[in-house]
Amino acid sequence: MRPEPQSSSAKFDVSRAAEYGIQSRVALAGYDACHELTACILAASLSSGRAARILVVGVGGTAQEIINMSALEPLWTFVGVDPAPAMLETAAANLEAHGLMEKTQLVLGTVEDLALDEPFDAATLIGVLHHVPGDEPKRQLLRSIQARLKAEAPFVVACNHYRYAEQPLLLQTWAERWRQQGATPDEVKAKRARIMQGADPPSSEQAVGTLLQECGFGPLQRFFSSLFWGAWVTHKQA
Ligand SMILES: C[S@@+](CC[C@H](N)C(=O)[O-])C[C@H]1O[C@@H](n2cnc3c(N)ncnc32)[C@H](O)[C@@H]1O
Repeated sequence: MRPEPQSSSAKFDVSRAAEYGIQSRVALAGYDACHELTACILAASLSSGRAARILVVGVGGTAQEIINMSALEPLWTFVGVDPAPAMLETAAANLEAHGLMEKTQLVLGTVEDLALDEPFDAATLIGVLHHVPGDEPKRQLLRSIQARLKAEAPFVVACNHYRYAEQPLLLQTWAERWRQQGATPDEVKAKRARIMQGADPPSSEQAVGTLLQECGFGPLQRFFSSLFWGAWVTHKQA
């Protein structure tokens, strides 16, 4: 329960948490489809209809991972972890509204605060990795998740990839997406600055695969992509 001030989570303050549910759906076209498919891919991997314990890393904001997984697999239970207090609070409010607090344990802190002797059947890391600056901190996070999974457990990782500045067409398309949703030119500028703030996305799909491989996961399978965003499933290597 130790709230660690982290460079990857400090920016997720009260103002960002308050607008997150709406903003995330504009910034990521297909936000809901990605979360729905995450539930489907884990159900397909674990065999549907049986109890499972799922780790949701970076659960703050919407808790949409849990809302979608729980609708598909009512026997699953969840541990959600996030170091940003405001983001965890909005996640708790969403879970409460969906009657899901009874099957969810929320932890204000990092994966390292979780016990090592109760391994999970699966885990998700959605929208977090590109906020973690540097490859070694990314590896530390991935290793800490890997250490808390059962052998061969499925793991969904979704994040932005590509260096933003090297993809001017995608960046401009992103700006047009905001304009399409009603943002003024000044608002588009502010959104763009906010999205770039502290972001350090892996440079390619291959870079995501290499990070995962270095941390004890098997090959990646991509199941969703949208502009800079990719979502993949991998498995803990036995
Ligand atoms: C963009 S939000 C994604 C939230 C949610 N997973 C979703 O799909 O909407 C990123 C979240 O990751 C959290 N975060 C940042 N660094 C983290 C870390 N090292 N461990 C766990 N969560 C972290 C942030 O506090 C924030 O709530």
